[in-house]
Amino acid sequence: MKILVTGGTGYIGSHTVLALLESGHEVVVVDNLVNSSEESLRRVAELAGKAAVFVEADLLDEPALESVFGQHSVDAVIHFAGLKAVGESVQQPLAYYHNNIVGTLNLLRAMDAHDVRSIVFSSSATVYGEHNPIPYIEKMEIGANNPYGRTKEQIEDILTDLGAADTRWHVALLRYFNPVGAHPSGRIGEDPQGIPNNLVPFIAQVAVGRREKLMVFGGDYDTPDGTALRDYIHVVDLADGHVAALDYVATRPGVHRWNLGSGRGTSVLEMLHSFEKAVGHALPYEITSRRPGDLPAFWADASSALADLGWSTTKTIDQMTEDHWRWQKNNPNGYNAS
Ligand code: NAD
Ligand code: UD1
Repeated sequence: MKILVTGGTGYIGSHTVLALLESGHEVVVVDNLVNSSEESLRRVAELAGKAAVFVEADLLDEPALESVFGQHSVDAVIHFAGLKAVGESVQQPLAYYHNNIVGTLNLLRAMDAHDVRSIVFSSSATVYGEHNPIPYIEKMEIGANNPYGRTKEQIEDILTDLGAADTRWHVALLRYFNPVGAHPSGRIGEDPQGIPNNLVPFIAQVAVGRREKLMVFGGDYDTPDGTALRDYIHVVDLADGHVAALDYVATRPGVHRWNLGSGRGTSVLEMLHSFEKAVGHALPYEITSRRPGDLPAFWADASSALADLGWSTTKTIDQMTEDHWRWQKNNPNGYNAS
């Protein structure tokens, strides 16, 4: 198939473009590079031995989208493009709603106009909000507690309404848990701008000397070691989950939703200690107060993705941290060589 990947130069997008090329698909990437570099696609081409077509364009630019669909006969879309920092979304809700919601509406309207009605969408575990018991199951009522999460929830609603109104749509809503790690080659990986918000990129920058120490947000949770539990998933497993979801929806119309996680919780300190093993020495940290809005623990019920897609995670926590470290060590400043 020919797949249009929005946000394909980003962290999860670049790994998924590689998985698609390796599975024999053709790929067209649309990205405005607001949080990524085209260098990721050059490296994907090197790894795959073939290249994706790259179009630098913003989903807010309707004529540009129209021209992409006019020039390429696309079979399906994987939609990663969006802004994703929770804290920033609280400060700048209009920017988040505009970019994520309007960008998605423009994309869906261009798809509809060109008779492309298969889409795999990047949702998030954050849609489960604060009220659900763990593990999270797809049929639970969702309700996010921050503007970023609400854009994910609202896009899920838009796609659900679309699937109900027109049975020609094939929709996969993928709720990612905590993506970490990098391709084992160490050539592509996560390249956060500024101070990383997420745990593993922060630990990686401590390990490479860009940050002094890890601040562990909360040591008094009701968990085995007092630190919070999350369901970490290797980005290569996550990328494979997209290929599996795409194959599934290709022949099945309707709206489908799957958690992509391992089904296991790992603590902040377990993650740190695994990273230390990869690096070969201890890393400095300090236990501080809890981060506002954080939950003590959550993980996926991952059984639906296994039953429907035949997909489950294959990689261990140690593989996640080893691969993340290889990427960070080989690229201390990410894709920016200076
Ligand atoms: P990323 O920032 O690396 O990738 C997103 C890409 O979208 C970037 O390359 C950015 O330049 C592009 N983009 C943003 N707005 C755009 C626009 N208007 N037009 C064109 N391109 C635009 O993030 P990621 O970690 O790869 O996440 C990919 C998707 O998965 C996002 O939708 C994110 O919300 C979702 N997600 C990520 C995580 C995570 O922890 N990384 C967890 C759950 C869900
Ligand atoms: C964050 C996002 C969530 C997103 C998810 C997936 C917030 C509030 N939530 O959740 O919307 O879906 O990422 O990527 O940003 N931690 C530290 N020190 C740090 C950084 C993190 O102790 O410097 C702790 C956190 O308190 C948390 C755990 O590490 O307990 C994981 O944090 P993080 O990587 O930010 O992921 P989430 O909090 O799950």
